[in-house]
Amino acid sequence: MRLIFLGPPGAGKGTQAKLLTERYGIPQLSTGDMLRAAVAQATEVGKRAKAVMDAGQLVSDEIVNEIVSDRIDQPDCAKGFILDGYPRTVPQAIALGKMLEGKGLKLDAVIELKVDEAALVKRMENRVAETIAAGGTVRSDDNPEAFKRRLTEYREKTAPLSEHYAGTGQLRTVDGMADVNTVTAEIEKILA
Ligand code: AP5
Repeated sequence: MRLIFLGPPGAGKGTQAKLLTERYGIPQLSTGDMLRAAVAQATEVGKRAKAVMDAGQLVSDEIVNEIVSDRIDQPDCAKGFILDGYPRTVPQAIALGKMLEGKGLKLDAVIELKVDEAALVKRMENRVAETIAAGGTVRSDDNPEAFKRRLTEYREKTAPLSEHYAGTGQLRTVDGMADVNTVTAEIEKILA
């Protein structure tokens, strides 16, 4: 199974992708996690991405397209994968389409999680509080200023993907305001 999760920052893409990973035995491909790992390891990509990510802006299409193409070629993606946070721009979606075609692969579904903006800010604040309580490191883009910018980037560059995938007939929408288990159940209905 090959899926895309679409949705604004804090919509629950990562939460749902992790749950489906366990259920279907396919990996979660989070471009955010991959980029954060590159930053932590101070690779060339990480050095180029750090300031952009800290400011809540999107990393270049060229960088993420290459990271995803390489990741999809790994053996653990043979049975499928869940794309979490990619594609994020219409050019990325077009690149992904060509990439999959070139690899002889097809998408099964594009699932969009819809969540009100006020709830997103609250979720980000909760995540920060939980991380601090657990003694972890707060994400460098989980602060009011960067989060505002992430929302703007989403509205301007990522929201148009809904129309893009509605046009291909692959878009399915789920109410992401419901609790985690209800959202998972709705997604599983779509995938059944
Ligand atoms: P990325 O890591 O992808 O972050 P994001 O899209 O901003 O999303 P989040 O991880 O904040 O949210 P999520 O939707 O996964 O929600 P989560 O499940 O964590 O990207 C970070 C940065 O990397 C970007 O800004 C950009 O710079 C760069 N980047 C990444 N991909 C890129 C790309 N393709 N192109 C260019 N640049 C890229 O949930 C959030 C919180 O809510 C959690 O605390 C969770 O417990 C809680 N929660 C989840 N579901 C529910 C629910 N149903 N009810 C209540 N609480 C819930």
